[in-house]
Amino acid sequence: MSPVMIETNAIADIRATITENRLISSDISIITLECPEIAAAAKPGNFVNIKVSESTQPLLRRPFSIHNVRGSAIDIMVKSIGSGTAIFSNSVAGTSMMVLGPLGNSFNTSGQNFDTAILLSGGVGTAPMLFLERALALDQKTVINLVGGRTKEDLIAPGLTNLMFATDDGSAGFRGNVVELLESVLPTLETKGGLKVFACGPNPMLKALAGCCRQHHIPCELSLESVMGCGIGICYGCSVEINTPDGSTRTLLLCKEGPVIDAELFVL
Ligand SMILES: Cc1cc2nc3c(=O)[nH]c(=O)nc-3n(C[C@H](O)[C@H](O)[C@H](O)COP(=O)(O)OP(=O)(O)OC[C@H]3O[C@@H](n4cnc5c(N)ncnc54)[C@H](O)[C@@H]3O)c2cc1C
Ligand code: FES
Repeated sequence: MSPVMIETNAIADIRATITENRLISSDISIITLECPEIAAAAKPGNFVNIKVSESTQPLLRRPFSIHNVRGSAIDIMVKSIGSGTAIFSNSVAGTSMMVLGPLGNSFNTSGQNFDTAILLSGGVGTAPMLFLERALALDQKTVINLVGGRTKEDLIAPGLTNLMFATDDGSAGFRGNVVELLESVLPTLETKGGLKVFACGPNPMLKALAGCCRQHHIPCELSLESVMGCGIGICYGCSVEINTPDGSTRTLLLCKEGPVIDAELFVL
């Protein structure tokens, strides 16, 4: 069983200015923040913790994956689901806010044990995939994106290439969930150098995927989510149970030792 990857980033807490806010669906925006220190240190899978308001509402920062890095700016893909994400989504260009990052570990894109990467995501879990796809392409890997949603209206994949879609209602692409789509394409994939799966999305999807990858002996990394507070290992608000090599379980702080874990460690 592979160990959890632990990395130390050069973390900065900076006042960043929004330079662009683009609505890409009814409730999802891509927000560009000018923050050179974070952009320079960021790796795919890292996240930032953002104080979306100057007031005490909400009091705590909110965590977001780094969707893309463009020069000295980072893009965040945000889905409005509550008070914090609503304030962030409605923030216009020129607004500034405190951004802490890059935080957490990152996807391991470089190994020699694969030449084809399957990027599997659902909903706003697609957020880290563009930055990841770009890094994998630099490492000369072939990338296939599998993106799932309940209906075609839920499918979001800005900038991603080599795409296949799955929808629960069959309104676009494969009828079924995105893990079933993976199961259906696996026999058709011819790779000399091996496969590796990278995923981010809702927990039930990740659970099904971890089971599928174990069954087919495919290496897989999952980016998990939890409610977070500090983002830097102090508040213990982000603890999740993971498997250990000796067959027991232990607590992992997702903000420090995650959000990316080896799928073997996911408790099914
Ligand atoms: C490492 C990491 C990366 C993330 N990346 C992104 C991203 O790129 N884009 C994005 O839109 N969101 C991302 N999220 C989720 C995002 O942080 C939450 O949606 C946000 O904190 C909710 O804040 P809120 O004030 O709008 O909602 P709240 O008012 O706090 O909550 C509204 C509802 O959503 C639930 N909720 C809150 N946080 C989460 C969560 N993390 N997972 C599931 N349900 C939650 C609450 O229980 C509540 O029911 C990420 C979370 C983590 C931990
Ligand atoms: S969010 Fe505070 S310890 Fe992880």
